[in-house]
Order: sequence, then structure tokens, then C-alpha cells
Amino acid sequence: MNKVISFEHAQAQRSDEAIEDKVRSLIQQMTLAEKIGQMRQVDATCDRISDSLAEDVRTGSIGSVINQTDPELCNELQRIATQESRLGIPLLIARDVIHGFGTIMPIPLGQAATWNPDLVQQAASIAAQEAASCGVNWTFSPMIDISRDARWGRIAESLGEDPYLTATLGVAMTRGYQGDDLAQADSIAACAKHFVGYGASESGRDYNTTNIPTNELRNVYLPPFKAVLDAGAQSIMASFSDIDGVPASANGFLMRDILRDEWRFDGIAISDWNSISQLAVHGLTADDRESALQAVRAGLDIEMAGDAYDDHLKDLVMEGKVSIELVETMVANILRTKVRLGLFEDPFTNTNSFPSIGSPQALDVAKSAAIESVVMLKNDNNALPLAIESLQSIAVIGPMADAPYEQLGTWIFDADTSLSVTPLQAIKQVAPSDVTVHFARAMASTRSKSTELFSEAVAATKASDVALVFLGEESILSGEAHSRADIGLPGNQTDLVKALKETGKPVVAVILAGRPLTLGDVIEHCDAVFFAWHLGTMAGPAIADLLFGAASPSGKLPVSFPKMVGQIPIYYNHKNSGRPPSPDTVIHIDEIEVGTPQTSLGMTAFHLDAGYEPQFPFGFGLSYTEFKYDDLRLSKEIIGPDDTLTVSVQISNVGKNAGSEVAQLYIRDLVGSVTRPVRELKRFSKFRLEAGETRTIEFPLSVEDLCFWRRDGSYGFEPGRFSLWVGGSSMGDLKAEFAVTEQ
Ligand code: GLC
Repeated sequence: MNKVISFEHAQAQRSDEAIEDKVRSLIQQMTLAEKIGQMRQVDATCDRISDSLAEDVRTGSIGSVINQTDPELCNELQRIATQESRLGIPLLIARDVIHGFGTIMPIPLGQAATWNPDLVQQAASIAAQEAASCGVNWTFSPMIDISRDARWGRIAESLGEDPYLTATLGVAMTRGYQGDDLAQADSIAACAKHFVGYGASESGRDYNTTNIPTNELRNVYLPPFKAVLDAGAQSIMASFSDIDGVPASANGFLMRDILRDEWRFDGIAISDWNSISQLAVHGLTADDRESALQAVRAGLDIEMAGDAYDDHLKDLVMEGKVSIELVETMVANILRTKVRLGLFEDPFTNTNSFPSIGSPQALDVAKSAAIESVVMLKNDNNALPLAIESLQSIAVIGPMADAPYEQLGTWIFDADTSLSVTPLQAIKQVAPSDVTVHFARAMASTRSKSTELFSEAVAATKASDVALVFLGEESILSGEAHSRADIGLPGNQTDLVKALKETGKPVVAVILAGRPLTLGDVIEHCDAVFFAWHLGTMAGPAIADLLFGAASPSGKLPVSFPKMVGQIPIYYNHKNSGRPPSPDTVIHIDEIEVGTPQTSLGMTAFHLDAGYEPQFPFGFGLSYTEFKYDDLRLSKEIIGPDDTLTVSVQISNVGKNAGSEVAQLYIRDLVGSVTRPVRELKRFSKFRLEAGETRTIEFPLSVEDLCFWRRDGSYGFEPGRFSLWVGGSSMGDLKAEFAVTEQ
């Protein structure tokens, strides 16, 4: 769907040279006030444009707005900007389109469980289309903070604990938002956030301090940002975080040395909400003036929802504390993105030229993403799929069974909740007319500690062939500023499960939450468990298809699930330590005799009351069939710097049902100038196999894949021995070894 001008004309206009000429020409005409205006983003939440907002746009005192999604108001703002201001510079109109706009996709952590970049890209493309139809041209997504702490509410928005999976899916989202041509009407600019290390907030409390050693920053937290910017993301957002004592909004090492000098990024660097003024709250500056000075020197092109630049930048320039050349370089970054978006040709949206929000295609993608996000954690005795034709009655239980808003998850400002189909609705839709569906909410909310409604749930279960219990967290219990110190199922959901189990009927749990939970004995009391994250608009139809076998679960965990919150941080790609635990070094706290001598226990890195393994590992997920890995082969046992190692493996569907598998390849660098993770995901492939089908998968590995930031601060590979695993989770089924030589 092109704008008015021809694609070729637009393309020619957006050649780098033409862009730079346009940007230079504009800057030469701009006053200092107009330049500073471009660096200001204001909150435009309103249902009519105020005179002051209109005047600020008209005088060029604003370069972008956030939180306006009424297409008519967006068009009016653009009309004022392009037809009533002196230079006619269009506005960037930003919104947090994090996992859908009107049609809501699974939360990003759920989308990560699909391990399906194409599907994630499609979901982002739908989100861009719906957002653009309302006048939005910039989203603050993908959020690619590596997240190893499920207490942190924003793990919900992340793509999990692994740099390679996060980078791969972050790139897919970026391509979905920006399309093949940024100037397309349904393309919107992406924003990599939050730069950097926000997921390492101490104790999982949001906005809290982070301390990340440079080697860890380089090898774990920065790679997804480099990948997403290399994929063409037009912007990056500074995190709120204090990183090793210097908050990102004033961190020149990050925002200038790495982002601009090393990575040559030429897009927009934007603050987070009022994060420049918060530098004084951090205690890095004494006041807004100093905050503005530190932020502009660090290289934040735009201040989001703050006044530091507007109040002080002009004086700082006039006093020679900030050079006009620096300001012009930053304004160029902003104008460059506006040109690339084609906003100077056509900044307006024409809603009628887009599919309607909640179009069949949008709902279809939302359902596919929901189906592939669900991770089956348990399925004893093939309790699932349910043969609906053999059932007389089904009990649908729980506070998340019929919660059209709660199933959407966090960051869903523009959701059309009327589109939501809940599990209860979907089950009623698919159940044959002769099957009775009993519904009992059982709890007023997931946090309820009352048992007064349990009796109706127990009665419904006794009257049914199976109990489907929908548990988890309401949407508000994860997301920004919503961290939890205890990540168990809230309220007395576990007691509800036990009460249902006591009826002797099969119990299937479907858990909708925004983070990994410590599921403890809920798992034990259930015959089968789906972990369904917050699945979005089409949660119900997706879950119904999976429960009754119209679809087969294929999700794999993008994050480790701890047994206990005290194990956090727990993640698969950890270091070995000098005393790694093993099953034979671990003893449980309850088994220790009184008077046991001090050094007689395992003396390795484990918890007496939790061991050292998660409840469920990264990459884990069951399906309705079984996959067998055989015949792992390496094309070479030794490779030099220019060689490619081809890893092949045979995978067979040895079960009775068709299903999709995610074959995962991990390596371990056995010796390095710095200690290396015990496993690192380097490749994965998702594919469907019919029952009885066998396929050989090949993964190419180059020495480039083995490079890392070394002890001397350089980047490259190191010769030596490597282990390699291929399998259906990070526990890896088959193992091999290879070596890398200097030449
Ligand atoms: C919030 C979030 C950021 C979001 C921004 C605009 O505080 O930290 O992710 O994009 O403000 O809503």
C-alpha cells in the first residue's frame, strides 16, 4: 500500500545522498529554537487539540508527540505541522505498540516461546498496519532487554534470557514494523529498548540499580541491540537504569562511544519518560539544567515527556556549554528518520485505505501466534488432547477462564477488548451440543484468598468428565513497575487445584501469566499443564484448539522457570564456577543428619533446599508426539578461521501425532580468556513432522558464531575445543566435540 507518490520516486528520494541533502538544507534554514523543538517529544494524550499544543506545533517547538491515536487528531497535528509552521516539518507520532495495537498478540515473552521468527514478524506487521491506520508512525518496540529475573514485571515485554533468541526475534519484530520500505503507509519506525541492561535491575524491582561488568555487558546485554540496529531499526531508547553508577540517559560510553562511534548508528536516541530530569533524582546532577547538559553531551537526541531541553538547551548553547554543531548533529538524526519514513511526502493517514482493526487476517495471525506460544509443561498419560466426542460434560474453572481484558496482558492501551475471545467462550463454541459445559469462577480474582466459591467449582468438577482450570495473574500483575517478590500463583489458586484434584477427576491447568511462576505442587496435582502466558485477543480459540487436538503444542520456554524465587537469577547460559554442582554432590536440606560435619556435604554451587536446576529449563516444551534425535554428524572435527562447520542431525517423529519441533543447537567454549557459559544457543529450526516422518536438519556454524568479547577487551574467537549439543531443549539430546585452530 504505497503513499501517493510512486515507489521509484520515493526510493530515489530516500537514497542516502538525497536524504542528507534534504536534512542539511532544512537545518541550514532552522532557527535554534526550531532545532531544539525537534528534540522535544510531548505527551499528546487528549480528545481535542488544545490551543497550546497547536501553537507549540505551529511554532516548531515540538518535533514529536506520544500517546495520540485518534486518526483525525493525528492528521490535524500533521496538518498544523506541515501547513502552518514556518518550515513544514512533519511530526513523529509515537506509541507503545508492544504486542499488537487493536488486535492483541501474545505478550512478547509468549511470542518468544513460539521460536518462530516469521510468525513474530507477521504479528509485528499486523500491529504496524493497525497502528499506522490511526496515525502512529513510530513504536517503542522491540523491547530486547535480556531478562533473567522473573520477579521483574517487565520480563513480560521481553524476549527472554538468551541473547541469540532475543536478537533473532527482535530483528523479526523490527522487520515486521518497518517492512521493506519505511515510507510505506503501513510501515512504522521501530525502537530498540531499553538501552541497556534494564533487565538486570537489582532484586527485580523496576527502575532499580544495575551493575553489569563490561564483559557481561558486551557478551550478553549489547548483542541484541547491535543486531536490531543492524537490521535497520530507526531508533533506540535509553533505559531508566543507573548502570555502574551512570544512568543511561547521561551515559556517554553507551550512547556515544558504543552507539555512535563503534556501531555508526545514525538514527534517533530518545530518553525514556522524563528520564533526563530523573538524573537529578538519581543524584547524578543537581538540577534540570545540569541534567540537560549531561544528556545532550551523552547524545540523547529527543527528550520524552520532560522539560529539561526546552527549559535549558538554548541557554546552554548561547553560553557555549553545548556547541550548535552538536545540536545540529542530533537534529539531523531526527530529521533523517522523518525523511526515511516519507513523512515529508505524505504525513497523513487514510484509515479507509487500511484493513479494519481486528480484520480476519489480524485475528488469524493472533490465533496462530497464540497457539504457538503455549508451552505444554506436563501431559501425564496423554491426558491431552481431550477427545471431545467422548465427553459428556466439561468443567471450566477459575478466575482466568473468562477474563477478556486480563488475558491480553500488559501494554495494551489500544486493545479492542470486544475482540477478545475467552477460553470459556471458545470451549462453548467448539463443544458439541450434547456436551455440557459447567463454568465456575471459583475465585473473585487470582489474588483471592477466600474459599467460599470453591464448593461450586468442586461440584462442577464432580459433575464433569474433566476439569479445565484457568489460573495465573491478572494483566496488572506484570509489566512496568509491577514486580513481585514472590512469584508463586497468587491467592489460593494452589488450594483450588488441590480441591479439584480431590474429586478424583482429571485436572488440566492452563496458566495465563506475564512471567515464569514457581508452580510448586500445582504441577504435581495436575494431569496436564499448559503455560499460556497472556495470549492476547485469540487466547480462547487457541487454547481450545490445543486442548481438543485441533492443534499440537509446540512452544518452548524462552526463559528458565525456577523452583523457588530464591534461586533467581537462574538461567541456562550460566558460568561453570570452580565448583559446579552435579546430582551426586547435592543433598536436600531435609536429608541432612543432625551433627553432620561441616565439610562433608557437596561443597559445590547448589542450594540445600532447592538444588541447582530450574523446575523447567530454557528451551523446554512438550508436544502431543515424541521426537527422536539421531545420527549427529559434524562435517569436520577441526575448523580454521575461514571454515564452516556443518552440523547435521536426524530427527524423527516417533509418536502417533503430527507435531512441530524446535531443534536447538548449543555450544560450549571449553577454555577461554574469560570464563564462558556452559551452553550458548547458536542455531534453532522449527519444523513440522508427520507421525513416522524423519528429517535431516543441517546447521552451518562459522567461526564468527564463536566470537566473543575477550579478556583484553577485543572481540574475536579463540582456538581450542568446543562441545556441541543438539536437541529439543537446552538440556540437549546429542553431544559432539570439535576444535578451532588459529589457521
Ligand atoms: C515507559 C517505559 C517505556 C515506554 C515509555 C513511553 O515508562 O519505560 O518502555 O516506551 O515510557 O510510554
